[in-house]
Amino acid sequence: MEDQHHRQITYLRLSIIDRCNLRCFYCTPVQELVKLQHADILRYEELLRLAQVAVAVGIRKIRVTGGEPLIRLGVESFLAALGAIPGLEEICLTSNGVLLADKAAALWEAGVRRLNISLDSLQPERFARITGRDQLARVLDGLRLATTQGFEPIKINCVVLRGINDDEVVDFARLSLDYPWHIRFLEFMPIGHPRRRWQEYYLPTAEIQARLTTLGSLQRLPTVANGGPAVRYRFAGAPGEIGFISPVSRHFCEACNRLRLTADGRLRPCLFQDDEVAIKGPLRAGASDATLRDLFRQAICLKPSRHHLDHSLTSPCRRTMARIGG
Ligand code: GTP
Ligand code: 5AD
Ligand code: SF4
Repeated sequence: MEDQHHRQITYLRLSIIDRCNLRCFYCTPVQELVKLQHADILRYEELLRLAQVAVAVGIRKIRVTGGEPLIRLGVESFLAALGAIPGLEEICLTSNGVLLADKAAALWEAGVRRLNISLDSLQPERFARITGRDQLARVLDGLRLATTQGFEPIKINCVVLRGINDDEVVDFARLSLDYPWHIRFLEFMPIGHPRRRWQEYYLPTAEIQARLTTLGSLQRLPTVANGGPAVRYRFAGAPGEIGFISPVSRHFCEACNRLRLTADGRLRPCLFQDDEVAIKGPLRAGASDATLRDLFRQAICLKPSRHHLDHSLTSPCRRTMARIGG
C-alpha cells in the first residue's frame, strides 16, 4: 500500500518482546525497568494473524525484533510459521547475538537466512561496560557459527558513540576484510535520552568515514530498491562490506517503506512518532480481517513525510528503543 507521501509500505518490523538479556546503557535507560505483563504482549497466534493481515495490505518483508527476540520461548517455531505465510517474501531477524550460537541451527531450520546483529565493542571489558554483561565471547562465537551455517548476509550494527567506542571503528571495519559480514556504522539517535546526553555521544557519519581512510579507499556499491537505510561501500577485494546508517545527518525518510508493530500491540507509523494505532484491543475483541486491514491502512496514512530530529530540543518520543525494537 502507498502512504500519503507516495511511498510503498512493504516492510514490517515486528517486535515480539520488550525484554532483553543485555542492558545497553543507551538503549534501556534505568528509569524504564517496568516491563510489560505477559498478557500485554501479543501471543504468537495473534502475531501470526496480524502478519497475515499485513501481507494482505502489501507487506512483503518482516523483520522480527525485540527487546531481544531470541529470549522469547518458542521463537523458532514462530519464525517457521511466519515464513510459511503465503505472499511473505522475506523474514529476517535483528538480535544482540548472545543466544546465536545456541540457536543458529534452529533458526536456519526455521527458514531464517538474514541476520542483523548489534555489536558495539570488540573489547571484552568495554563490551561489558556498555551492555552490563560480560558476553562478547558468546556473541563472537555466535557470529562465526552463523557464518559457517550459511546465513547471508550477516549485518553487524555498531552504534558509534563519541568517547565510548569511536576509537574502534577501524577495528570493526577491518572485520570486512576477513569475513563476509556487512559492518554498518549507525549514528546515535536521540531516542529516550535528554538532548544533552545525545549531543555528548553523537558522532556524524562524515567523521566516522574520515577515520577509515587509514584502511584504504572505499568503493561505493550501487543502491538497490528497498535495500534499506545503509549507504554501502567495500574495500577493494574484501569479502565483506561497510555501510553507513545516518538517520540524523542524512535522513532517508523519502525512501521509507516501513511500519512497526510493538510487542504490546500498537502499530507505530514512524520510529520517531508516538502517535500509534492500537490494534491489540480490536484483535482481542474479535475484529474481522477487514477491520484489522483498515487499522493497518490507518497507521500507514499516519506516516509523516520525515522526522524532524534536527529541530526538536528534546527526545522526540516517549518510548525507548528497547520498547520500539529499533
Ligand atoms: P535491513 O536493511 O533489512 O538489513 O534492515 P534495517 O537496517 O532496516 O534493520 P536493523 O534492525 O538492522 O536496523 C538498523 C538501524 O537502522 C536501526 O538501529 C536504526 O538506526 C536504523 N533504522 C532502521 N529503521 C529505521 C527507520 O525507520 N528510521 C530511521 N530513522 N532509522 C531506522
Ligand atoms: N541510535 C541508533 N541506534 C540505536 N539502536 C538502539 N538504540 C539506538 C539509538 N539511540 C540500535 C541497536 C540495534 C538497532 C536495531 O538499533 O544497536 O542494532
Ligand atoms: Fe521512516 Fe520515520 Fe524512519 Fe523516516 S524516521 S525512515 S519516516 S520511520
